[in-house]
Amino acid sequence: MRAIRIDRHGGPDVLTLADIPEPVPAAGEVLVRTAATSLNPVDWKTRAWEVGPPLPATLGWDLSGRVVASDDPAHHVGDAVIALSAQIATGRGTWSELVALPGHLVTAAPTAVPLADAAALPLAGVTALQALRAAEAAAGERILVVGAAGAVGGLAVQLARATGARVDGLVSRAEHEAEAVELGAERVWHRAADLPRHHYAVVLDTAGLDASAALAAGGRYVSIADEPLPDVPGARKSYVQESAADLSHLAELVDTGELRVRVADSYPVADIRAAHERFEAGGLLGKVLVTF
Ligand SMILES: NC(=O)c1ccc[n+]([C@@H]2O[C@H](COP(=O)([O-])OP(=O)(O)OC[C@H]3O[C@@H](n4cnc5c(N)ncnc54)[C@H](OP(=O)(O)O)[C@@H]3O)[C@@H](O)[C@H]2O)c1
Repeated sequence: MRAIRIDRHGGPDVLTLADIPEPVPAAGEVLVRTAATSLNPVDWKTRAWEVGPPLPATLGWDLSGRVVASDDPAHHVGDAVIALSAQIATGRGTWSELVALPGHLVTAAPTAVPLADAAALPLAGVTALQALRAAEAAAGERILVVGAAGAVGGLAVQLARATGARVDGLVSRAEHEAEAVELGAERVWHRAADLPRHHYAVVLDTAGLDASAALAAGGRYVSIADEPLPDVPGARKSYVQESAADLSHLAELVDTGELRVRVADSYPVADIRAAHERFEAGGLLGKVLVTF
């Protein structure tokens, strides 16, 4: 079967479409035929930096597809499913024609969007949900999402709005302001210097800025970015955890129309290097899918 592998770290040229043996699902596992996956920043970082499982390795965290074999009574052959796989920690990459995963990581795909598009949801969505939970974001509170037009930020804006919070956004460029408003942000800026000072009960940073001047006294500052936290009391990082329960909740929100999955572009797996180049150029409004 085909899989995107790396045997060394580097630029997009280290990505190869390899022919490798099909995985044999272990006890309790589900074998999924991949419809699509998506690109996340962790994928180019794992490709480029000395991080992740021993090489050679298959990359990828996001998965949508159909069950072709199951040793988990919760999943049946033919089911349309999605999953989040913590590839760095486990080595279970999803950029592969067939993926074997423990059944407890797999959940039903949303039905309101094409199965391929559902691959845009897992990592970005679960990260946004868990970061908002870490921030204890509550109805009526004012929240600033930094990177509000990005993958995690765009979902965080929608999720926070759905829980009744009042959400503002900071985006990287003026032409992204309308997108953040469309996702549910009330006020949107593209220059950090313009942010109101000491105003927000929660700042959720997805871009690695120091936006702490916008945090109200006693507020919660949560970052998912690699950059060091600003020096404010209680600032904390949120690190995504695999959770089919969270993923299932997100899929339900997609089906009820409360969460919009945004796809910017889609590449066939053979064009994986071009997909990486597009992704790393930035400025995206939505995810980059890779289809199998
Ligand atoms: N901790 C975790 O568990 C976890 C999980 C998932 C992701 N992450 C990390 O979180 C970050 C965001 O992930 P993502 O998937 O959302 O990436 P993304 O889709 O690239 O989103 C980042 C957004 O931030 C914007 N941005 C960059 N500089 C900005 C600035 N100065 N002001 C306002 N916005 C700015 C980007 O705009 P441009 O594209 O125009 O630059 C982009 O819209 C990445 O570093 C990723 O590795 C961490």
